Amino acid sequence: MSDQVRSQYEAFPYPERDPADEAKRLVTGSPSDPLEIDHYLFGGRRDWSRPFHALVAGGGTGDGLIQLAQKLAWAGVEAEITYIDLSEASRRVAEARAEARQLSGIRFLSGSLLDAATLGAFDYIDCCGVLHHLPDPAAGFAALRAALAPGGGIGFMVYAPLGRSGVYPLQAAFNRLFGHLSETERLSEAKALLARLPAGHPFLRNPNLGDHRRGDAGFYDLLLHGQDRAFRVMELSETLTAAGLALASFIPARLYDPGRFGVGAGLSPWEAMATAEQLDGTIKVHIGYAVPEAEARALPVPEDDLVPHLAGPAARIAREIATKGRLSFRSAGHPAEIELASETARLIEKIDGRSTVGHIAGAGSEGWRQVHDAFTGWNLLRYSSLPPRG
Ligand SMILES: C[S@@+](CC[C@H](N)C(=O)[O-])C[C@H]1O[C@@H](n2cnc3c(N)ncnc32)[C@H](O)[C@@H]1O
Repeated sequence: MSDQVRSQYEAFPYPERDPADEAKRLVTGSPSDPLEIDHYLFGGRRDWSRPFHALVAGGGTGDGLIQLAQKLAWAGVEAEITYIDLSEASRRVAEARAEARQLSGIRFLSGSLLDAATLGAFDYIDCCGVLHHLPDPAAGFAALRAALAPGGGIGFMVYAPLGRSGVYPLQAAFNRLFGHLSETERLSEAKALLARLPAGHPFLRNPNLGDHRRGDAGFYDLLLHGQDRAFRVMELSETLTAAGLALASFIPARLYDPGRFGVGAGLSPWEAMATAEQLDGTIKVHIGYAVPEAEARALPVPEDDLVPHLAGPAARIAREIATKGRLSFRSAGHPAEIELASETARLIEKIDGRSTVGHIAGAGSEGWRQVHDAFTGWNLLRYSSLPPRG
């Protein structure tokens, strides 16, 4: 099966990226963001003066790799990052992007993440959009766990079925009909057939999916993949457990809280998250951080020496809270809202990525507790001693 997956990504490196665009923008997201990694895996207390060893497993054309390497370089962290992917064509794009940004300290390898443990022991392993393409995803998770240094952890993204409704019947039909053709012939046949499907087809009515409109690689990845399985929350729980891993948190955690719908009291944590997935119905990927089960650790709670970082301009967010008592935004494509007492605005405006909780409010502050709960739930506030850029 790996041969089929490799040949797809040799023909269509995904996502499609032009190294020249590195001069214009940095692609950002979850996982792969050092602030997030610190918050969810190291309690917001990683000592960044120590060298950081990371593996980007199935790094593709480099989105996660470039974000991680660039942000660590901006922060002046001594980092050694290993990239590995089955597809050499993808690797060439990732290499050119790193070169365009003059990022050094990256070791580029072609091969399988199943061999991760032979590559070193890593503080962090990034694996975004890959494990659902393995014949045995649990073996992939286990291979990554085996490559962690003590105290390390994994950032992952795997597909979720409910938000991808309509995709899997089409993948099955297209592969049955066109599997014997070349990649480019498959693509043109599938595009032509898609145009003949009834308007009520769940895929055509699914507003959460757009990759098929964003170029050939996107179309192929979404609708012609030969090895693709999505995980419901409970299936992911079983897979992590089988691999000896514990979930640190989904990102954003609040998306998986049935309390959003005013229900769920009394459910176990996994039941609650599974219920939120069922009620929401639009979650198309699960993003999260995981650690070895034997090393499970708590997420940060407000403490005086922690340094909070806001994912957005503090002045604007504070103004919204001060005037409206609420902040509306989109989180990973989902509409979301935070309600907070307007007095908390004077705490929010002090968040600058350098000041500690003690300096801003004092860990025992009720106002800070409210800010912490509301913002960390939506992954808008992370603790880390990493300096902000500039
Ligand atoms: C959907 S792309 C995701 C790329 C990248 N992580 C991102 O998020 O943009 C999946 C990538 O996983 C790679 N891949 C699949 N199976 C792999 C394996 N066993 N070992 C290493 N890479 C693999 C593919 O070649 C492809 O580049």
